[in-house]
Amino acid sequence: MAEASLSAAARIWSRRARYAARQGSRVAWFAAHGELAQAISRRVSRAHARDNGTDRPADDGRPASAPAGPARERPDLPRILGQIAELFRRDLANIEAGLYPMPAGEFGSPLAFADLSRRFLADVPAVARRRATGNAQEVFEATRDAPQGLPRYYRQNFHFQTDGWLSGESARIYDFQVEVLFKGATAAMRRQALVPLARTVRARDQRHLAYADIACGTGGLLAPALASFPRLSGIGVDLSAPYLAEARSRLPSRMRRRAGFVCAPAEALPFATGSLDVVSAVYLFHELPPKVRALVALEFARVLKPGGQLIFADSLQTGDLPENDGLLGLFPDLFHEPYYRSYLSEDLDALLAVGGLRRTRLDTAFLTRIAVYEKTVGA
Ligand SMILES: C[S@@+](CC[C@H](N)C(=O)[O-])C[C@H]1O[C@@H](n2cnc3c(N)ncnc32)[C@H](O)[C@@H]1O
Repeated sequence: MAEASLSAAARIWSRRARYAARQGSRVAWFAAHGELAQAISRRVSRAHARDNGTDRPADDGRPASAPAGPARERPDLPRILGQIAELFRRDLANIEAGLYPMPAGEFGSPLAFADLSRRFLADVPAVARRRATGNAQEVFEATRDAPQGLPRYYRQNFHFQTDGWLSGESARIYDFQVEVLFKGATAAMRRQALVPLARTVRARDQRHLAYADIACGTGGLLAPALASFPRLSGIGVDLSAPYLAEARSRLPSRMRRRAGFVCAPAEALPFATGSLDVVSAVYLFHELPPKVRALVALEFARVLKPGGQLIFADSLQTGDLPENDGLLGLFPDLFHEPYYRSYLSEDLDALLAVGGLRRTRLDTAFLTRIAVYEKTVGA
């Protein structure tokens, strides 16, 4: 008996040690890339200022087109690391509670990881040049004559990314870029959206749950969802064909038959009215102009069954965690987020209530807010 409880305790501590080692090295790895990227960006920005005779301080980092203003707040690193540690504590508690399994590294073999690091660093100067010049319209110019049916607001270099959402290379390095931005904490923030999904899956027969992840990108939520719930099927929808192709190719073959991928806009979903039990949307709303946000909110309500659930995960909004408000203010200029400011103050509950979606939960995880909305019966 004593032996059994000793070995159970050993298993727990070994799991905790593995988790801590993995997340610790992840934070160190991505934080180091962040430092390197900043050093490269400063050099590019100094060269740009020299060539153009601008007097903006070399490490200001804002695009030359950004309005001059008070010096921007510097991120408070100890506070950020404290919040990340808290997020990891919660993530581990969820794993230990059986809500989802211990994550496997999503970046593949060490060789593949090293290759991504090389690709990421090779792209940093181009991103820094766009930031320095404030030019985020390369994609618009390139698609001016052949927009491929994509809306104008979508055809931009969001985050100053090379090719915006529209190339295989952008899709390949996107998650690495985001992890650098959030010091390796993005996947754990996203996993918090698995908590409400786990509750629903446990209460129902997952084989019969109609589920779609809208704006699935490279599968950041869909892949761990299918890995966590082995009988669940899900459809990933996104406007980017290259991101969908990347999402499909990253799924282990045993999971592919439970996944579908559809290229379509969130504002005109390819689903019948009242046909889905669960819809999730992660980091979509802050990328949308206010008018489109309203259309997408209505569309989510349309496709959900009465009693169906929207799992919403996106950036914190102003006031969600007041100590982070200053940090949120940094994103729009530094990472070309043209609709982010309006997102920060959007009344999401009111927006989603128009179609009959009522919020039942709200949680925060580092820089992410996770909310659950339910479609009221009769709406
Ligand atoms: C910030 S990424 C988030 C991707 C993914 N959900 C994740 O967690 O990493 C935003 C995604 O939204 C997609 N997107 C933006 N506007 C869209 C729209 N109107 N309809 C469908 N997808 C859209 C982009 O192509 C991109 O893949």
